[in-house]
Amino acid sequence: MEKETKIGILGLGYVGLPLSLAFASKYNVIGYDINSYRVEQLKKFIDSTNEIEFSYFETKYPLCFTNNLKDIQKCNVFIITVPTPLSQNKEPDLSFLKKASSDVGSVLKKGDLVIYESTVYPGCTEEECVPVLIASSGLVFNIDFFVGYSPERINPGDKERPLQTIVKVTSGSTPEIAIVVDELYKSIITAGTYMAKSMKVAEASKAIENAQRDVNISFMNELALMFDKMEIDINEVLEAAKTKWNFLPFKPGLVGGHCIGVDPYYLAYKAIQVGYTPKVILSGREVNDQMGVWMGEKIIAHLAKQFNGAIRGKRVLILGFAFKENCADIRNTKVIDVYNILKAAGLNVQIFDPLVDPILVKKTFNLELKKSKEGDFDYIFKAVNHTIFNS
Ligand SMILES: NC(=O)c1ccc[n+]([C@@H]2O[C@H](COP(=O)([O-])OP(=O)(O)OC[C@H]3O[C@@H](n4cnc5c(N)ncnc54)[C@H](O)[C@@H]3O)[C@@H](O)[C@H]2O)c1
Repeated sequence: MEKETKIGILGLGYVGLPLSLAFASKYNVIGYDINSYRVEQLKKFIDSTNEIEFSYFETKYPLCFTNNLKDIQKCNVFIITVPTPLSQNKEPDLSFLKKASSDVGSVLKKGDLVIYESTVYPGCTEEECVPVLIASSGLVFNIDFFVGYSPERINPGDKERPLQTIVKVTSGSTPEIAIVVDELYKSIITAGTYMAKSMKVAEASKAIENAQRDVNISFMNELALMFDKMEIDINEVLEAAKTKWNFLPFKPGLVGGHCIGVDPYYLAYKAIQVGYTPKVILSGREVNDQMGVWMGEKIIAHLAKQFNGAIRGKRVLILGFAFKENCADIRNTKVIDVYNILKAAGLNVQIFDPLVDPILVKKTFNLELKKSKEGDFDYIFKAVNHTIFNS
């Protein structure tokens, strides 16, 4: 397989770049992204996601980056790792997935394999992506070309658990192809693989991993909201409760990002489509989505007490803007909710986060980040627990 396999990876973001480098240790790999700026940066070994260090690019295996679709037409395995965000009304936005499918379809040949890694709802690959591949290639599914689904489980910012150390769930559009997909991943994942019974099962397994985390955090957030009113410190309660062996050690907090706050809606969308409206999943989302505003209101109440209500112009520093600790990713960050509520109360709010790209923050949120954390402040709020803030 190693000699014959030529892999084209579509999407070189948090998932696609580490995956490309991992496969490049064994196979010919071409990384393709529609974002020409990202491709130019990668050619200079600059990774704005901070997942890959310059030295790794230099010393590891050769890898081509391109934004020209023609460059991947000689590949026989295509792996799709494009975004799967939400629309305005919190429904799956499959536009990136469909565009990537139609791009791959336009270069697909008999015998090729297309593997999806983007997080989706159960059934999405066969119901939404395969028809696009068929239409754009003119080929016959499961005769001329085959499909696999293998959800990505990496945890951006986590240098202790790189891709190779996380068991990979694999699946294929036929039992034989499932084995091919599994063997492919087995060759790079040292932790091993788990071959799911079907693509639907593999898709569902990823969606519930993230929904489970979301629901568990939402329970902690609900406790935080309740105990606040009872004037009980949630942290003291958790310290006591976790002495029981089977207590799950989740913590309350902001839930943002491209996965945990998004994927439960994918699952809920499919459930509603087939006639079941999930209660736990959706109420968990509702609780988690209000935490930024609640935290902002807590800060305002604290300052109002301290300054007898005269809080206008008081200086607040927010530490951290990424959606989670030790990560550069600002997608769907809930720190913006805290910021907005503090600003609306007339506070002078500044944000410091050395890990995120200030140009991207300016472009996305029209916000100028502070260049250092120095200064006189009436209140400092650590919104994100970056290790760098603790040293
Ligand atoms: N980031 C994570 O922690 C993580 C973890 C597991 C799974 N996932 C899932 O993986 C998928 C990708 O997430 P990500 O974080 O890597 O996204 P990302 O935004 O970091 O990267 C996606 C890349 O795809 C490119 N792209 C968009 N359309 C394209 C097309 N038609 N052809 C080629 N490139 C295209 C974009 O320019 C971008 O560089 C999503 O479904 C996400 O839910 C993400």
